[in-house]
Amino acid sequence: MSVPVLDLTRQHAQIREAVQRALQDVFETQHFILGKHGKALEEEAAAHLAAARAVGVASGTDALLLGLRALGLKQGEGVLTTSFTFFATAGAIHNAGGRPFFAEIDPETFNLSPAAVERFLEEECRPGPEGLPVHHATGVPIRVLLPVHLYGLPADMDALNAVASSHGLKVFEDACQAYGAVYKGRRVGTLGHLGAFSFFPTKNWGGAGDGGLLTTDDAALSDRLALLRVHGSRERYIHEEIGYNSRLDEVQAAVLRVKLPHVDGWNRRRAEVAELYRRGLEGIPSVHAPKAPDGYTHIYHQFVIRAERRDELKAHLADRQIGSMIYYPVPLHLQPCFRSLGYAEGALPHTERAAAEVLALPIFAELTQAEVQEVCEGIRSFYAGRR
Ligand SMILES: Cc1ncc(COP(=O)(O)O)c(C=O)c1O
Repeated sequence: MSVPVLDLTRQHAQIREAVQRALQDVFETQHFILGKHGKALEEEAAAHLAAARAVGVASGTDALLLGLRALGLKQGEGVLTTSFTFFATAGAIHNAGGRPFFAEIDPETFNLSPAAVERFLEEECRPGPEGLPVHHATGVPIRVLLPVHLYGLPADMDALNAVASSHGLKVFEDACQAYGAVYKGRRVGTLGHLGAFSFFPTKNWGGAGDGGLLTTDDAALSDRLALLRVHGSRERYIHEEIGYNSRLDEVQAAVLRVKLPHVDGWNRRRAEVAELYRRGLEGIPSVHAPKAPDGYTHIYHQFVIRAERRDELKAHLADRQIGSMIYYPVPLHLQPCFRSLGYAEGALPHTERAAAEVLALPIFAELTQAEVQEVCEGIRSFYAGRR
């Protein structure tokens, strides 16, 4: 039996008619940008997350870019984040005019370690103007802390918020992989000053193309975001600042609205699949399966194991027609485009070790128990030396 890493056609089969009706509505009205679906989607997402405001944009990457601008990041200022994330996290920092700084992850959760963040701010920075920490070696002031809820597991936001606030940093959650995840009773994206989400089609709440969303309780921030996404213009042809063309279009919003009522159920089913994996992988000493800490609801955008001889295991699974992915094989501090930041190999040992050991197994709400068993059997046979 082959097992795909993701099969969106199974999801579409459940909602086909509703999606077609929603698309028909958009095409009948011929209103494609900033219409009723986009507005309704913002209201529905804000209510679902218990955020005061939500602002739709063209992608998760743009959500990060516009969000950093709205938070007041100035040219040449620093943003402290994780190196173990999708490229967009740091790409957006650069494109917003900032300089990324990378702190170490917690090896158990793969998320930014609050202790490492504190160490960076205390030991590698000194107090500077505006109460912001200034990085000793570069003289760069650090304005924003940007944690990522990687694979759908919330980062330790109480600890991160505490260290950020004691150093005067704004907190911007990269929740692009974690729509619906809950941290101590609250949804991610509402735990810092601002949250960014992605509607890339493979996400737990995915569109029919690119899309993104920002969430905040701060009305001034959401007004600024609404301005930035339309070239900084409130009144037609008058531009208060230089913004972007970054709207969530009506086709995306209409499709996403059909899916939203299903998302919590789909996320719960992913957690059940994760539990099936944990049981199926029990007793394989070469494999470490993920588990959410108490008080955290992991939405398993990815189910990522640590595995000995990871690349050989991946090839073995591929031989058995079982899909798997490596998120992410090269940490951002070692990317060629960030060479000028001056990080050497060995700078972030937990991050580098994770990059060498992680393997994402197939996970989606419609994955069957038999498919999970097939994957687990494939892994077991590899370590038992059976082919
Ligand atoms: C952690 C993270 N940040 C940012 C992004 C960027 O989102 P998008 O692909 O919608 O631009 C993604 C997803 O692709 C992501 O996984």
